[in-house]
Amino acid sequence: MNKTLYKTNLVIFGGDGDLSYRKIFPAIYHRVKENQLSKETNIIVVSKNTSDVNSFFEELKKHLSIHISDIDESVLNQIKKMLYYLSIDLTDVEGYDSLKQVLSKNKMEQDVFYYSTPSTLFGIISKFLSENGMINKMSKVVLEKPLGSDLESFEQLNEEVRTYFKEKQIYRIDHYLGKETVQNLMVLRFANQIFELAWNAQNIDNVQITASESLGVGNRKGYYDKFGALKDMVQNHLLQLLCLVAMEPPSKLNADNVRDEKLKVLKALRPMDKDTVGKSTVKGQYTRGEIEDEHVQSYQEDIDTFDSTTETFVALRTYVDNWRWAGVPFYLRTGKRMKRRFSEIVINFKRVPHNVFPSGNKIDRNKLIIRLQPEEKIELVQMMKIPGPGGYRYKPSSLELDYSSSFDKRFPDAYERLLMDIIRGNQTLFMREDEVRDSWKWINSITKSWEETEQDLELYKAGTWGPGDEVLLPKHKWYQSKKDEES
Ligand code: BG6
Repeated sequence: MNKTLYKTNLVIFGGDGDLSYRKIFPAIYHRVKENQLSKETNIIVVSKNTSDVNSFFEELKKHLSIHISDIDESVLNQIKKMLYYLSIDLTDVEGYDSLKQVLSKNKMEQDVFYYSTPSTLFGIISKFLSENGMINKMSKVVLEKPLGSDLESFEQLNEEVRTYFKEKQIYRIDHYLGKETVQNLMVLRFANQIFELAWNAQNIDNVQITASESLGVGNRKGYYDKFGALKDMVQNHLLQLLCLVAMEPPSKLNADNVRDEKLKVLKALRPMDKDTVGKSTVKGQYTRGEIEDEHVQSYQEDIDTFDSTTETFVALRTYVDNWRWAGVPFYLRTGKRMKRRFSEIVINFKRVPHNVFPSGNKIDRNKLIIRLQPEEKIELVQMMKIPGPGGYRYKPSSLELDYSSSFDKRFPDAYERLLMDIIRGNQTLFMREDEVRDSWKWINSITKSWEETEQDLELYKAGTWGPGDEVLLPKHKWYQSKKDEES
C-alpha cells in the first residue's frame, strides 16, 4: 500500500474558524493538488455555527482565493466531494450523535480529530468523543496552541486529553517546526561535517535568535493581552529553535530520538531568579509610531485600554548549562510592531585568535545566518581580500544560498508538511508532553521573577527594534542585516 495515501476521516473542530481558512484548508488544497491525500478522504467540518455544506464551501472558496493564486477548479471540486459540515454544540454530549453517524457510515483506516478551537474545549471534546465510543487505537488528535498559559494550566489541559488519548496519538503543533528552513537546520547540522566540528563553546561566541513582526495584535486582543510576547512566542517557537540549534545529534532521525535530545536542552537551560532576571531580560510595549510610512496606534489603543502591562516585546539572554555550550550566551528576541518582519538565527563564531595582517585592521567574526522568513536563505559571512595591489585589505562578505532561487519549486507552507506528518503518523515535528512541560517550567522561572522584582515594562516606538540593548548585550550587538536596517 502507498503509505502516503492513508484513508482518513479528518474531523476539524472549529473548521470554519480563522486558522482553518488561513492555514488548514490551504494546506489541504495543496496536498490534494499533489495527489497526496487519498480520494476517499473525508473532511468533516464541525462548527458551533449553523450553516450547511454548500454555504461553507462558498465561504471556503472566497478564503482560498485570498491565499492561493490561480486556483484549480478541479482541486476545489475534489475537496467539495470530501466535505461534510456538522453544526454541533461541543459542550453537549448529545450533539456528537451526527458525527458518530458520519464516522460509522464512512469507516476509514484512521480518524484524525483536529482541535482548532479554544483550548478550554480540548478536555470536553475528548470526553464526549470517548463517551460516544468514537476513540479507538487508530485515532489521532491534533492540538493547537496555546497549550496552557503556565505550567499548572498546561498540566491540567494535558491531563484532560491524556485521559482519553495515548501520547503516541497526540500531535501538538508548533508551526515553526514545519517551516522548510527550520527543518533544513537539521540537515545543515547533521549532514555537514564542517559545521558540526565548529558547533561548540570553543568556536561559537554567541547565538542570536530573532522573530520580529511588524504587525500588531490584530483581532486577537483578548488572547494576546492575557499571554504577551514571552508566552506567545518564546515558550514555543523560539525555544524550539534554540533546541534545534543546541541539541546533540540524535542517533537516528526518529520522533523520540529527536525529542529526547531537545528535552535535554530544555533541562539544561539556566532558570532565571530575582537576582538575574533584571540583567537577563527586557520587556517592552509599543507606543504609537510609523511602519513603512504608515502611522500605527499604540498597543493600548489597539486593545482599547490604557493600563495594560502586557509585554509586546521581549528579549533575553540565557545559557545552556552543559559541556558543549558552557558560557555561550543565547540571545532571544521577539516583538510586535517592530521595524520589519523577519525571523533568523545567527551563529556568531569567535574571532581568530591572532591577527597576522600588517594593517592590524579589525577582523570580523564569521557568522552563519539562517534566515527563516520572509526570505529563506542561509548566509555564511567570512572575511575576503579586497582585490588589487596595496597590501592586504579585507572585508566581510557573504556566501549565500537562497532557497527560492536554488530550488525550482513552490515553497510549501509549514501546515502542509505538518498535515501530511499527522496523516502518516510521524511525530518528529510535534512537541512531546515533557518538552512542553519543561519549557513552561523555564518560562515560569521568568514570570515569577518578573513578579517578584516588579520589573519595568519599557516603552518602545512602533517601527523600531525595541528597547533595552544596553542592559542585555553589554558586550555584543544584535546582528542586523543592512537590508533590514533600510527603511
Ligand atoms: C503565532 C503567534 O504562534 O505565531 C502569533 O501566536 C505570531 O502572535 C505568529 O504572529 C507568527 O508566526 P509566523 O509564521 O508568521 O512567524
